[in-house]
Amino acid sequence: MAKILQPNEENLRELRKFLLFGGLVGVPTETVYGLAANALDPEACAKIFEVKQRPTNDPLICHVSGIDALDDICEVNPLARRLAKRFWPGPLTYVLPKKAKVPDIVTAGLGSVAVRCSAHPDFHRLVEQCDFPIAAPSANPFAYISPTTAQHVEASLGSRISFILDGGPCAFGVESTIVDLRDESLPRVLRYGALPVEDIEIELGRSIDKPEPSDDADESVQHLAPGALPKHYSPRTPLELRGGLSPQDLDALADDQAALLISKPSQAVGANVFWLSESGKLSDIAAHLYAKLRELDELGFRQIVAEEAPELGLGLAINDRLRRASFR
Ligand code: TXA
Ligand code: MG
Repeated sequence: MAKILQPNEENLRELRKFLLFGGLVGVPTETVYGLAANALDPEACAKIFEVKQRPTNDPLICHVSGIDALDDICEVNPLARRLAKRFWPGPLTYVLPKKAKVPDIVTAGLGSVAVRCSAHPDFHRLVEQCDFPIAAPSANPFAYISPTTAQHVEASLGSRISFILDGGPCAFGVESTIVDLRDESLPRVLRYGALPVEDIEIELGRSIDKPEPSDDADESVQHLAPGALPKHYSPRTPLELRGGLSPQDLDALADDQAALLISKPSQAVGANVFWLSESGKLSDIAAHLYAKLRELDELGFRQIVAEEAPELGLGLAINDRLRRASFR
């Protein structure tokens, strides 16, 4: 069992030391919980891959305290500075050319590194106290549902790590948006996430390159973002994704099937019908998505039939995760 620590100054000081000397810590971010290690310590980073059972060709994100900490580990350009000024700290990750001090294991041997500055107040304080960048992928076993509470991390990885910093439930509930900024004239979305792409486009005053929402195995993106696998974020229970679920569809459900709706239905429904939000607000749906999938996974249904979110804003990230969860 891992020890779940409250975010007080003493615990943050201890965790900094633990990380400095090669330990792994479950950490809260505003998106999902991460599994953190000193990014400049290749042995500590190797343990991340071991604990998650993640293939070593899937590189890690480095977390920094702000734009000033970036020059140390990557080549920063004016576009990255501009977007950081607007969106950092926050759920936006950049891919930029890496500097030599970033170990190869972090970047899976690529010439680029993914970097982000988290807005979670407790994790942000920890990162600020560390004089090294923190490598942290989501703290789930490879391809399983990402964790959005300290208890989720404990349930999946508690037997393999010593400490989890408890920062409460994650506000966003889906991972950061990743953009490749290596070519300033051609910024490119590699992963839909908690920061709507439309917000980036508004800031830049133009549209940017992005994956086709429905193409769950976009090979060009897989090549650029090695972790963008078609099957990911998956419950053990098979999940089928549908455009919508009508009252007739709900009536036709078998007892061993669960329905997962985007918002609370207005009609009376059976005990095997679940929903992600009361209001239908995309931010609520995203915030509850992974916790609800974990809950349903524990209930022993033969199948989960889930309904798609609207295909805009945060809905693109929600549908991306549901599509990957449904991939067999
Ligand atoms: O919200 C988040 O981003 C969370 C929290 C913990 O920060 N982290 C997260 O990390 O989602 P992870 O490892 O689960 O997903 C990172 C993705 C992977 O698909 C990986 O392949 C991609 O980022 N990535 C990392 N470095 C890259 C690089 N140099 N070039 C392209 N893709 C990269
Ligand atoms: Mg992940």
